[in-house]
Amino acid sequence: MAEINIHPTLDELAQDAAGRWVEIANQAVAERGVFRIALAGGSTPRPLYTLMASEPWRSQAPWAETVVFWGDERRVPPSDPESNYRMAQETLLQHVPILPHNIYRMDGEELANSAAREYTNKLMRHFELDRREWPRFDLMLLGLGSDGHIASIFPGTRAASDLSNMVLVYSVPQLGVERMTLTLPVFNNARNVIGLVAGADKAEALAATLEGRYQPSTHPAQAIKPVDGSLVWLVDEAAAAKLTSR
Ligand code: 6PG
Repeated sequence: MAEINIHPTLDELAQDAAGRWVEIANQAVAERGVFRIALAGGSTPRPLYTLMASEPWRSQAPWAETVVFWGDERRVPPSDPESNYRMAQETLLQHVPILPHNIYRMDGEELANSAAREYTNKLMRHFELDRREWPRFDLMLLGLGSDGHIASIFPGTRAASDLSNMVLVYSVPQLGVERMTLTLPVFNNARNVIGLVAGADKAEALAATLEGRYQPSTHPAQAIKPVDGSLVWLVDEAAAAKLTSR
C-alpha cells in the first residue's frame, strides 16, 4: 500500500515534497555522485518548484549534481505557455545553479516517433543502458488528472498498457493532440515516486485510484508500483475528501 500524506493546503503539501526532494537528492549524491529527477508538468508542482528555487531549500539541494528529465510534454514549442519545460524553467531551473547540459528537455515541437527515439537515446546515453535495461531515476514526480491520468499516460490508451517502450509519442483521443510520455516501466524502476495531488476536482480520481477496484487501464496510477522503490502520495484535504481510509 502506498504512503499517503494529507495536508491542509497545497502550500503545506509542497513543503513536505521539498523536504523529501532535498533528502532524496543528497542521499543520491552521497551514494552515487548524481541525482536524477523526472519533473511533472501541469500546475500542481508549481509551488514545489518555486520553493526549491528559494531558501531554505535552494541551498540545501545539490544543484551541481542534479540531472533533470521530464515525465511528459505537450505538443508545443518550449516558449508556449502550455509547455511543461517552460513552466519548470520559469519557476525553478532559471533560478538555480543547475548545469545546462544536465537539463534534458523533451522536444515538444515535433512530437513524432523520431522525437520518442531521440529522448530514448538521451536516456540510454545518460544512464549508460544496454538494450534490455530501464533508466532508474532517484525521484520521479507525478500529478494526477481529474480523469485519472498520470504524466501523459491516459486511461484506455496504448500508453496505459505499453510495457516495452521507455518513451511513447501518441495521439491522445481525450485531447485530440499528441503527447510524449515516459512509460509505466520507467516509473516502476524509480527509487522514489512522489504523486502530488491537490484540489476538489481530483477527489473522485484519487479515491478511485487509491481505493477503487484495481483497473489500471482505467486508472493508470494504480499500475505505479515501484519494483524496488517507494511511492508516496502527497495530497491536500480537498483532493482527499472522498477517501474513506483517512
Ligand atoms: C501534464 C502533466 C499531467 C498533470 C496532470 C495534473 O502534462 O499535464 O504531466 O500529467 O500532472 O494533468 O495537472 P494539474 O497539476 O495541472 O492539475
